Order: sequence, then C-alpha cells, then structure tokens
Amino acid sequence: MARRTYLPRMAVLALLAWISNAPAAWQTVGSVVAVQQGADGTEFSTRSGARVRVALVAPDVVRVRMSPSGTFERDFSYAVATPPQALPLRVDGNAAGEKIVLRGADGGGVRVEITTRPDFSIQVYAGDGQPILSDDPQRPMAFDATDGAVEISERRDAHELYYGFGEKALPVSRHGQYMTMWNSDTPGYTPGLDPIYQSIPFFIALRDGKSYGVFLDNTYRSYFDMGKTEPSRYTFGANGGELDYYVFTGGRERAPANVLRAYTALTGRAPLPPLWALAYQQSRYSYTPDTKVREIAQTFRDKRIPADVIYLDIGYMDGYRIFTWSPHDFPDPKKLLDDLHAQGFHVVTIVDPGVKRDENFSIYRAGKDFYVHTAAGDELHAAVWPGMCAFPDFTHPQARAWFGSLYAGFLDTGVDGFWNDMNEPGVFVPPESTQPVLVHDPMKTFPLDARHDGDGEPGTHARYHNVYGMQMARATFEGVSKLRPQQRPFVLTRAGYAGVQRYSAVWTGDNDATWDHLALSMPMLTGLSVSGVPFVGADIGGFNATPSAELYTRWMQAAALTPMMRTHSAIDTEPREPWTYGEPYESIARAAIELRYRLLPYLYTLFADEVQSGFPPLRPLWFEYPRDVAASQVGDQYLLGKDLLVAPVVHAGQTKRRVYFPRGDEWIDWWSGAHFSGGKAVEVAAPLDRLPLFVRAGAALPTSPVAQNVAEAAKLPLILTIALGADGGGHVYQDAGDGHGAAETIAVELRGDRVHIERPATAHFRRVEALEFVGLARVPRTVRVAGKAIDAAFDVTTHRVRVPLPPAGNVDVVVER
Ligand code: GLC
Repeated sequence: MARRTYLPRMAVLALLAWISNAPAAWQTVGSVVAVQQGADGTEFSTRSGARVRVALVAPDVVRVRMSPSGTFERDFSYAVATPPQALPLRVDGNAAGEKIVLRGADGGGVRVEITTRPDFSIQVYAGDGQPILSDDPQRPMAFDATDGAVEISERRDAHELYYGFGEKALPVSRHGQYMTMWNSDTPGYTPGLDPIYQSIPFFIALRDGKSYGVFLDNTYRSYFDMGKTEPSRYTFGANGGELDYYVFTGGRERAPANVLRAYTALTGRAPLPPLWALAYQQSRYSYTPDTKVREIAQTFRDKRIPADVIYLDIGYMDGYRIFTWSPHDFPDPKKLLDDLHAQGFHVVTIVDPGVKRDENFSIYRAGKDFYVHTAAGDELHAAVWPGMCAFPDFTHPQARAWFGSLYAGFLDTGVDGFWNDMNEPGVFVPPESTQPVLVHDPMKTFPLDARHDGDGEPGTHARYHNVYGMQMARATFEGVSKLRPQQRPFVLTRAGYAGVQRYSAVWTGDNDATWDHLALSMPMLTGLSVSGVPFVGADIGGFNATPSAELYTRWMQAAALTPMMRTHSAIDTEPREPWTYGEPYESIARAAIELRYRLLPYLYTLFADEVQSGFPPLRPLWFEYPRDVAASQVGDQYLLGKDLLVAPVVHAGQTKRRVYFPRGDEWIDWWSGAHFSGGKAVEVAAPLDRLPLFVRAGAALPTSPVAQNVAEAAKLPLILTIALGADGGGHVYQDAGDGHGAAETIAVELRGDRVHIERPATAHFRRVEALEFVGLARVPRTVRVAGKAIDAAFDVTTHRVRVPLPPAGNVDVVVER
C-alpha cells in the first residue's frame, strides 16, 4: 500500500524557506514609549510601532498579545470557548520609569512586571510571589515585518520539565525538544517524528513540584524550542498572526491540576460521552461486505467477548463518496444496522472531508457554495480516496451547518457515531495517486495560499490549516447535536487544534504494530490528556503491519484502561479480532476487555468529573504527584483517575516489570491484594495473562459484574471496590448513559475501618449491591453492616471480602482487621 513519491522541487524549496524560520528580518519590539489603560488591558506602545497588551483574564491567568503592526485584530479564537474578559488592574509606574508593575485589583496575588527598556519585557510572578515566566533579555519579544513571524523567549531553569503540547510522538517530558505545530498526515510515524496529526500549542511546566502553563493561541504554523537550542532558554513563536499567549499561574499552590482547570475553563471541556463509546470498540479498514460485519458481531456474542461498537471504514461507501453506501456490499444498511442494534452494538462510520468532484453526485453539487477556493478564486481540488475532490471550508459557518445537516440520512439509517479522518487536511501527492503515500511532508495538504472564510476573518490556508480538522469535527458535533438533541454525539477525529475536546474524541492515527509504538502510546495519550483532550486512544495492535500474538495481547491489556479502547488495523494486515490468535491469547484478550467492563462505572464517573474540573481520566504520574521527582518522567505507567495505577508490559518476552509506586500513598495489587508503599520501584510479576494493576489505599471505586455490552450492564447492580488502609473515599456518577436527563451520585467515605455510603433515597439507576474489600491480609475479625455482624466470605487467593448491602438508604460498614 505504501509508496514513496517526491514533491516537485520548487514546492520543496518554497516550503523549506517557509519552515526554516530564516531569521531574515527579525526586529525586537524595542522600548516602551507610551502606556495606556484600556478596557481590554494595559497597552504598551513600543519604539518599533508594535503594541503589546497585557491583561489579567482570571485571577490566575495573564494574557499577552503583541501586534507587530500596532493594530490588534478582532479578538476571535477557534480555541477559546468562553471569551476572556479583562479584570481590573492596578498599574504602578509609567513609560518614563524602568519598571511598570501590574497587579490584579482583586488581591489574587499575581503580579506582572514590565521592564520598559532597552526592550519591552515581561516577568510574571505567581500568587506565591515566585517568578514563573521571565522574558530572556538576550532574545526580546520580536517580529519579522517581512513575513509576519512573531516570537518570544523565556529564561529557563535547567531542571524545568514541560508536558503537554498535544499529540507528540515523544517521551513524557518534552524538555530539550523542538516541536512544530502543523497538522500533518503522517502514516506510520516513527517515535520522535514531529509534527504529526494534531496541534495544541499548550504546555504545563513543572519545577520543584510547582507548575505553571502557557498557551500560544495562534493557528499558524508555530514552534516551541524547549531548551534544545539553548538549555537556558525556551522560545516559542509562529509564522504569522499576533503573538497571543496565556500564562496560567496555577493559583497559590501552583498545582498542575489548577493549570489544567484554568486552561480547560478557557478552551472548554469534553462533554460526557455516551456510555457505549467508552466500552470496547472493534474496527478494521475495512469490514466489507455486510456479511463480514455480521460475522464479526456474531462472533463477539458467540465467544462471549464483550463489545459495544463496530466501525465501518471507507469500504462501506459507493466509490468513496461521502454519505453513500456501496449498493453491492451494503445493499440494505438499515436492516444491517437494525440487526446490529438488536445484538447490542453501536455503529460508527468514517466520514472524510473530501467530496468527490462528480457532477452526478448530488452532495458535490449541493456543496458548491461551501468549498475551499484557490488563491485565484477557483474551487480547490485535490486527490484523496475518491479521486479528485472539493473540500468544504469548515471555517465557514454556513459550510459547517450544511455539512452538519448531511448527517441526517445516516442517523435515520441508524448510524450511531462518526469518525472524521484525513482532516489535517491530508491529500494524496501527486494528484494522480489513488493511495496515500508514506512520505511525511508538511505540504501534503492544500496550497498555503488557498482561501478560507475564517468565520468572517478571511485568510489563507497558512492561517487556518491547523483548525481545519477541528472545525470539521465541530461541524459533525453541532450537526448531530442539532439532528438528535436527545442524544450525545460521538465524534472521533484525527486532526485537531486546542479546544478540539469540545467536539470530539481523538485517536493517534496510523501507528505501527511494534513494541516501540505500544510503549509510545502511553506518553502520547497522557500528553493529550494534560493538553485538555481527555477522550483519547491509540489503535490497539498498531495500525500498520501485523502484530505478534504477544504484542497484540499486551496491547489489549495496556489499552484496557485508556479512555478509548479500540482495535483497528490497516487493509493489508492479517485479521485482528480478540480471537484471531487462538488460545491462550483469546482468553487473555477477553479478560482484558472484561476488566474494562468491570471498571466502566469508574471510568464513566471520571468523565463526569472531568466536565466539572477539566481533569482527564487518564493521567501521567506527575500530574497527581508533582512533588515526587521520581514520578516526573515515568512514561510507561499511567493513572486512571487518582486511584488506579496501571503498569502495562511493553517489551517482548517480559514476564515481570519494575513498577514505580508514587510517593505518599500505599498501593494494593488488584489481583493478589499485596501491599506496596509509595516512593519505591518494585519488580512485580507480569505473566502474559496479567496486567499489573494497583489500587490506591483509601479508594472506593464503582465496579460492575461483567456484561457483554452496556445495555446488558445497565440491568446489573454495582459493586463498590474498597481499598482500606487510608482515609478517603470516592463517588459514583450515574445517569441513563446517553442524553441529557437526570443524574444521581452515590458518595462513599472511608475513615479507618469504617465505610459510610450515602445513597439517594430513590435510586433511578443501578443500585449498589455489595462492597468488595481488596488487599485484606487475613479473614477480618468482624464485619458489621449497619451495626449487625455478618459472615463475609474471604477469598484466600485474591484476599478480597465481599459484603452484601441492604437494598437502599445510607449505610455504614465496619471491617475490623
Ligand atoms: C487513514 C486512517 C485510518 C483509516 C484509513 C482508511 O489511514 O488514519 O485509520 O483506516 O485512512 O480510511
């Protein structure tokens, strides 16, 4: 399938000139000549004519804008969900002095110091009085008037680490890296390749246990040199537009969680997904014809391997025309989908942006007013799967509305969710190609001078490239929401920009069936998580090539507790279903999926929490343990919420592995009940059939008996899994699993040996039937439920005790150990 090809030389030369940041005409902003207080912040006119505006937009968020021309653009951003309002500032000093100090009038503690000469420069002090961001006087804020580039450099402490930057095929901390933000279709990307599909110019810095964050809201190609060129500084900038960045000071504690809360308050949070989308998903490029889809669905049910979702990749269409069905392979899609629904499956279809240029294709004709145009004003055409296509301009509100309305037919047929691919946008080169090529080139997209509407800020593709995919996902999300207001849309996108989480889940594109890629999936997914994108997954087994039985099995385990769990594989690979490799692999894959179904109530609760807090369900260790230096660069383990520690095996032939237990907590082996104290790395057994999994002492997690799909699970009672050993607790969020109806919360408190459960008086959802205590050393002396001693069975292999609960109401359970 893969084939190499070369771009014309001129294009390459033009591109190189564009991406090289040739320091042709950099000019620093120069000294401050005037200071003005406006409604949107404090403005500094500089000797170069550039203007800088500094504003406090939340008690712990500073916004800096620099316009090289001196005139600010309309304040419009695709990333921002809630437009920030400037808070009142106290300004001490003026242009004649050397320093001007800005303070929030609310006493939040953030202080911004402006040095007026020889060049305007900023220092931001956090609420604790510590400097967090200091412009490097060696490299003042600058712009290039000839090509519009903008840049700023900050002084860097040698020990400062950086996380986030969206989807990066890089280790967990991105210090010492140079990263580019330019959405790129990069099939089979190797670890280290940059950029890939998504652009999220946001990071969280960590030093001495304290954090701050920076978000560069600029949709042009941008870059971050995090101490690679010069360890004592980091630099970020963009090829055009304003320098427009936010500094999140992290509040008084300077906790990473505060930074992410503030960033997601600005750029929005992911809505609660439909429950089915969190369950196991099976995909393939492509399951065709319809009989194959039926066979796959039936095999899941026959083998009793839980699954909720089947994907239809491009093969279902008629000549790859979007919103059509192949009359030959899918003659009766409605019947197919009805039957799949009856078996408890949901169906997701792929929908790419390219609309086949075919005058006989009604959608192509209907879209005439909505396509991207070339600089010369013609409809832009490029080749993708259907051959020559036109492309909706998703930065045009009417184009989005039109495209969104196209989902009506598929929804009526019974399609449940939508997968937007190729939306970097990626195109085939040369245009005669009928297959994508493996060459990784940032110009495998529209010409940079193509025209976009930009929601009323018309501009070039160079400006809007990075938001094209996100705006496609938005068109899908908004279209489906409008057509099915009683349901929660499920959208999956490959490309995105900051704020993409408001519309869509994200998967990490065309990874490879290698152990390296399995290992890479963890820093990639946690990196996305801490960039505000909580609903993420990687293709299990690796998209390209065929994994060994062992690799697929380990990947199933590793992905079992990631937010999205989906097997997907390329057209030219061997079949890839949980049963493909026979025994013992089939049983181990089933067990991994069953583990997910057991923990779905916990995952769902975490997603409900995320809507409130912005904290992602999937967390890197440092996020919860910022003061634990040993946790700061752990990339082969993850946390699900704060209570589960997952340490997958990511090397061939390994049957044990070292696990680092974060400091300050006690951890209990999920399977054996063994205890581990935090702050140490310990080698644990990891035979092929075991995913090393640990629960934090003090946790109370909602779990479920295994069901074959979420509809079946809804009929079963819940179990609360309790890890005694520290005070704490947890809660359970429940609702109908879709739609926007009522919700219910059960709260659990752990104090010593006592568990207190608060259950709503009228339970509308799954009731809690029992408690299951993990990690008990021996048979408890007594177990009392609501004051009454009961006999509770102790399992000697798992060290668990199950305690049945009365049907309703608040209740106390005491386990004397
Ligand atoms: C792209 C996608 C992949 C999909 C294929 C065919 O390569 O990344 O997931 O299967 O296109 O649609």
